[in-house]
Amino acid sequence: MRHTADRSRKRLKIAPSLLSADFANIREQISVVERAGADYLHMDVMDGRFVPNITWGPKIIKDLRKLSQLPFDTHLMIVEPERYVTEFAKAGADIITVHWEAAVHANRLVQQIKENGARAGISINPATALSELTEMLPFIDLLLIMSVNPGFGGQSYIPTSTQKIAGARKLIDERGLNVELEVDGGVHISNIREVVDAGADTVVMGAGLFGTGAPGEAIEQARAACRS
Ligand code: DX5
Ligand code: ZN
Repeated sequence: MRHTADRSRKRLKIAPSLLSADFANIREQISVVERAGADYLHMDVMDGRFVPNITWGPKIIKDLRKLSQLPFDTHLMIVEPERYVTEFAKAGADIITVHWEAAVHANRLVQQIKENGARAGISINPATALSELTEMLPFIDLLLIMSVNPGFGGQSYIPTSTQKIAGARKLIDERGLNVELEVDGGVHISNIREVVDAGADTVVMGAGLFGTGAPGEAIEQARAACRS
């Protein structure tokens, strides 16, 4: 069920996760999703400590910056994010999202991100209750709900995430906050409608796009699935 007529008219944002892209052909992969109307490029930064996987740091963000004008939606799955957010902003990250579970002084961290000219997001793991964020919601630009345990692409959507998305939508709307609601993990053409109907403004898609071998067409199909 859609929440309001206004929301149903709002354009869904799609953020392809480069984690599932072929880095040997990254220029082409970026250009395909860009031409298909991707709204952001989602960059998963993993440190092997907060999550059991390692990806890339600011150098890669800086290099990729030359390949696209799309906003870089940078998802930091790292411990002690306060040590790195300034560097990621300088490298060209437009949105910097840190994990609630890794943030000791979340309010200060959000300030630090904004002072560096980026939009500030907070992400919560599947095991974290929305209610923990009550104090922080008015300070953030984006709330990222993880619908898988962070660390890897290609995992299955955790079904209880839908209720959590709907709960977050309600909290944001009731309080009249200007917080973008993004969902990350296990979103495919088969379930994107459920995620969007629950209230997501933005969906991250990794395997659901790049795993199909035709990410541009998959973006079109994802949008069509939400219209039908
Ligand atoms: C998981 C990452 C996701 C991941 C999503 O830790 O945060 O962004 O790339 O990939 P899919 O869409 O394949 O679940
Ligand atoms: Zn992510």
